[in-house]
Amino acid sequence: MTEKQTWSQRFESALHPAIARFNASISFDIELIEYDITGSQAHAKMLAHTGIISHEEGEALFNGLEQVRQEYRQGQFQPGVDAEDVHFAVEKRLTEIVGDVGKKLHTARSRNDQVGTDTRLYLRDQIQQIRQQLRNWQTVLVDIAEKNVETLIPGYTHLQRAQPVSLAHHLLAYFQMAQRDWERLEDVYSRVNISPLGCGALAGTTFPIDRHYTANLLHFDNVYANSLDGVSDRDFAIEFLCAASIIMVHLSRLSEEIILWASEEFRFITLKDSCATGSSIMPQKKNPDVPELVRGKTGRVFGHLQAMLVIMKGLPLAYNKDLQEDKEGIFDSVNTVKACLEAMTILLQEGLEFRHQRLATAVTEDFANATDVADYLAARGVPFREAYNIVGKVVKTSIAAGKLLKDLHLEEWQQIHPAFAADIYEAITPRQVVAARNSYGGTGFLQVRQALINARTQISVK
Ligand code: ARG
Repeated sequence: MTEKQTWSQRFESALHPAIARFNASISFDIELIEYDITGSQAHAKMLAHTGIISHEEGEALFNGLEQVRQEYRQGQFQPGVDAEDVHFAVEKRLTEIVGDVGKKLHTARSRNDQVGTDTRLYLRDQIQQIRQQLRNWQTVLVDIAEKNVETLIPGYTHLQRAQPVSLAHHLLAYFQMAQRDWERLEDVYSRVNISPLGCGALAGTTFPIDRHYTANLLHFDNVYANSLDGVSDRDFAIEFLCAASIIMVHLSRLSEEIILWASEEFRFITLKDSCATGSSIMPQKKNPDVPELVRGKTGRVFGHLQAMLVIMKGLPLAYNKDLQEDKEGIFDSVNTVKACLEAMTILLQEGLEFRHQRLATAVTEDFANATDVADYLAARGVPFREAYNIVGKVVKTSIAAGKLLKDLHLEEWQQIHPAFAADIYEAITPRQVVAARNSYGGTGFLQVRQALINARTQISVK
């Protein structure tokens, strides 16, 4: 049996060592230590401010907590499993440093409102870091897009060649996803940034605390209006994990494209040595490990979202120890999203090159201009559905003859329909096919140039 500690005199014997290990969260919630200290410092100030403890006591607690922080930073304070969790660990070390006054810190508070406060402070920081990373990611996308307005790439639906697009347009699609991710996190932040501190164990406290005072010190926008809700709400974590999952969806989709593009079948990009790996047996291999890992890591973030939802669904009010299970998923999701954003940003910035020659050929070797032939007729008065059917037949006979549309002679075109004139050839060049899609949000070069200007404005918002 371990030494009896922490809980009240009600307990006669100590925890079974295996149960102590099972119960302990210190191995992972140590991640929260600096937030725990900051939250406790605000609490100590509030206790002094409201006269619950004296100013000298408040100061002793504040300074003692600061010493715990320094000791931790210098590696001198490394709490073990006997501390159970980070909250007990800090309080215990504080009391060793400042003496009996340390035992006053936990007046008018519970670990339940404390852990909720810590988790929100942590997530608040992480959200801002991830948003900054999203801005870096968007910047790289715009930088590459700006250089590739006139680079054409096959556009696909059903992974079948559909219509060529500007490569910039393709990259800006991911830019817009990242923009929504950035905005979504801002929205999540507003619900993370509410203080549960002072909700107590579940019902509030008998002490004349000032919850708004601590909320202000900790830069929370608001306080939870209901103490039961404050200590047991994890909506903010679910929302964060959902936002994190959506970021991963976006990174994973681009990863999949990069993996395809790097294949011998597509050959749209070359991976540079700095971001690709070899095979231990096949000397010719150069593998796209970075996008594969991003695609693979997406699964664990989805898993953490699912786990959090399931943790919550049957929980009666208010705090239940199940909630201790929120942390590892949150931490792992934060670390995964940050690592993936960093790796993808580097990969795009310096790890791959588009093969311009190959792309230029790719957009001329298919029937991706068929819609434009139908549009050509429709613009000359032929009802679109009729034009569509006519072109369908042309495609069929061309395939049979081993020709592309650009190979048909003018007489052949005119036999198909008298509305065809010599300008049909220009209308179906890949460049014109792209340029012509000048509707708002389309791939037409004018649209893309405007979209790039808008993108720069969007990322100038911090
Ligand atoms: N380690 C706990 C957690 O992460 C802290 C709160 C414990 N509260 C309690 N009543 N046992 O949730």
